[in-house]
Parts: sequence; C-alpha cells; structure tokens
Amino acid sequence: MSISDELFKELMRRFAAGVTLITFNENSKFGGLTVSSFCSLSMNPPLVLICIDKKIASHNSLKNVTNFGVNICNSEQGKLAWDFANSNIDKNELINSLPNTTTDSGTPLLDEALASMDCRITERHDGGDHSIFIGQIESGNFDDKAEPLVYYSSGLGEFKPN
Ligand SMILES: Cc1cc2nc3c(=O)[nH]c(=O)nc-3n(C[C@H](O)[C@H](O)[C@H](O)COP(=O)(O)O)c2cc1C
Repeated sequence: MSISDELFKELMRRFAAGVTLITFNENSKFGGLTVSSFCSLSMNPPLVLICIDKKIASHNSLKNVTNFGVNICNSEQGKLAWDFANSNIDKNELINSLPNTTTDSGTPLLDEALASMDCRITERHDGGDHSIFIGQIESGNFDDKAEPLVYYSSGLGEFKPN
C-alpha cells in the first residue's frame, strides 16, 4: 500500500516550517538554495540535518564541499527565499550582493539572517529521492531582535504567537 503524490503533498503542506538559505563555497564560487527541511539532530555533538532533492544542481555541489552554511530567514527575507529557490538566478552574484562573512572553512554566511551557522558535513544518507546531509556546527551567530519567516501551505509569512 502506498499513497499518491497528491496526498503526500497535501499532508506535507499542512506542516508549518522555518525557512533557511543554505550557502556553500564550491571551487571558490558561492552557491546556495532555499531549504525548509532543516532540523536540529543532536546537541552533543552539535548536529543538524538538511534533506536535499537528488535531482537539483545543489545536490552535486553539496557532495563536493566540506561545509554548508545555514542562514535562518527573518520575516523580511521572503523575497530572498524565493530568489534562492530560483535556479535561474546566479547565487554567486546574489550572495556577493548581500552583506556576508566568509568563515574559516570558506563558507559564506549572510550577515542579516535571524541566525547563521557554519556546518562541517559529517555524513550523507540516502532518503528516497532526497539525500540527508548531516553537519556539525563549527560556528554560529544570531540576531535576538528579528522575527522568523514561516513556510506554510506553499506560502511564506510571519509567525503569529497566541
Ligand atoms: C520555502 C522553500 C523550501 C524548500 N525546501 C527545500 C528542501 O528542503 N530541500 C530541497 O531539496 N529543496 C527545497 N526547496 C527547493 C529548492 O530551493 C529549489 O529546488 C532550488 O531551485 C534548488 O536550487 P538549484 O537548482 O540551484 O540546486 C525549497 C523551496 C522553497 C521555496
């Protein structure tokens, strides 16, 4: 027994998630993509994971790099999240046009994100049509005044606490 792709999408669409911009440095060229499948995995050691579609170009890039940056979007970064999800936009130019800091590993982190961290890739696992990349956080910083961006039902918006 299995479910249809349509039901799978309807089920997943009902899960509200934060939004991250994953950044990396592949042969001295910056790259990146929008990812909502970011998850905290372990505190000791400090591990996170992201799930990446095997069909997209960034999947190959992530196989070639040692580190990836996780930049958690703030509520003002909705347009940026759509731009990072657009494969027609040159991410090297885009990242260079934004205030950014290169870490010791050469990974660009976006200065204006809600939080950003440099992660060394420790493991890659098969996950159906995606791969799970596990990264150990080597450095990080955060902005404790900004609000998060939320992805829900194919749209991006603000978090409203009750
Ligand atoms: C809000 C949002 C969340 C996304 N989350 C993921 C994700 O978790 N994993 C993934 O592989 N793609 C995800 N995507 C799609 C990629 O960002 C998109 O396919 C991107 O164009 C890939 O870049 P590339 O073609 O340069 O590799 C998401 C897109 C959006 C708008």
